[in-house]
Amino acid sequence: MARLSGTVELVGAVAVLAAVAAGPAWAISDEEAALLASGCANCHAMDGRAWPDIPPIVGKPERVLQAQLLAFKADQVRNTTIMNRIAPGYTDEQIEAIARHLASVNR
Ligand code: HEC
Repeated sequence: MARLSGTVELVGAVAVLAAVAAGPAWAISDEEAALLASGCANCHAMDGRAWPDIPPIVGKPERVLQAQLLAFKADQVRNTTIMNRIAPGYTDEQIEAIARHLASVNR
């Protein structure tokens, strides 16, 4: 019995090491995240500038973007004209990927 549990622990440790060695395992690839975020550029300038009344979204911290998008999705933002209709079109996983991509864009 002791021998069996030792084997299970070893297998578990190897699985953890393999996961760490592979780096972050994003469910959505960087390429797919960039594609998902490309539609945002129709309204939001991607160089940090903004059209009148449309705030810039690149270069902001990933967690801030993610929280804002989830708030739009949950219809918790006042004075929204369009984002409360756009954000529900994405899964939470896609929103995470979009935020990750936008946060990585250099202005
Ligand atoms: C049709 C134009 C349009 C598109 C497309 C669009 N947005 Fe927006 N976005 C807006 C407008 C306008 C606002 C201001 C809030 C509102 O009126 O809904 C806004 C606000 C935001 C904000 C809040 C920024 C802040 O500082 O308050 C975030 C974050 C955001 N958009 C992200 C996105 C992302 C990510 C996408 C692509 C998935 C996207 N937007 C696509 C027009 C657009």
